[in-house]
Amino acid sequence: MTTTLKQQVALPDLGAVQLEFRAAMARVGASVNVISSAGEAGRGGFTATAMCSVTDSPPTLLVCMNRRSSQCDLFLRNGVFCVNVLSHDHVDLAEYFAGKVTDMNERYASGMWECLPSGNHALADAIASFDCKITAHHVVGTHYVLFGEVQSIRCSTVGHPLLYLDRAFVGATAGIVSN
Ligand SMILES: Cc1cc2nc3c(=O)[nH]c(=O)nc-3n(C[C@H](O)[C@H](O)[C@H](O)COP(=O)(O)O)c2cc1C
Repeated sequence: MTTTLKQQVALPDLGAVQLEFRAAMARVGASVNVISSAGEAGRGGFTATAMCSVTDSPPTLLVCMNRRSSQCDLFLRNGVFCVNVLSHDHVDLAEYFAGKVTDMNERYASGMWECLPSGNHALADAIASFDCKITAHHVVGTHYVLFGEVQSIRCSTVGHPLLYLDRAFVGATAGIVSN
């Protein structure tokens, strides 16, 4: 008998510990990214704040992806993802890729995309884009941790990053407070 990824993952049972963790994590500001993936399994993408650098040698990022997402198979089969760091002009795009619309063509139509040599799509006006090959994935609780070795980078010197803080989208425009 085969089961889908969704069926293998229990629905969240939020106890006091999980609620306390979520409330504290809401106070942690994080950049908002759209993680895109294109390849033989098709084109996908979702909004994520759970992204960070792992090492610069070799340049590697990690992204945490909920195992209940319908897109887990697609990402793992494509074996690639592109981290697109959003600017404060990308709130609509962030909401679309967070599930406000489910149709992937409609999600992609809310931005301008450029095709990369890898076959992935990069958001043309992203603050930065990191095109990655998935080198490992681990299951931790409800999520996959996807490790991606960076194949190419695009970086803009203009635009203000979009942050997520206190369960809201926030533009990072305060400027330098110390250097
Ligand atoms: C600000 C924000 C940050 C999010 N961060 C993550 C994340 O790091 N990992 C994740 O799996 N889902 C994250 N989500 C939820 C996904 O974007 C959303 O569940 C997913 O796109 C909807 O599922 P689908 O793409 O399979 O339709 C986040 C949503 C928002 C609004």
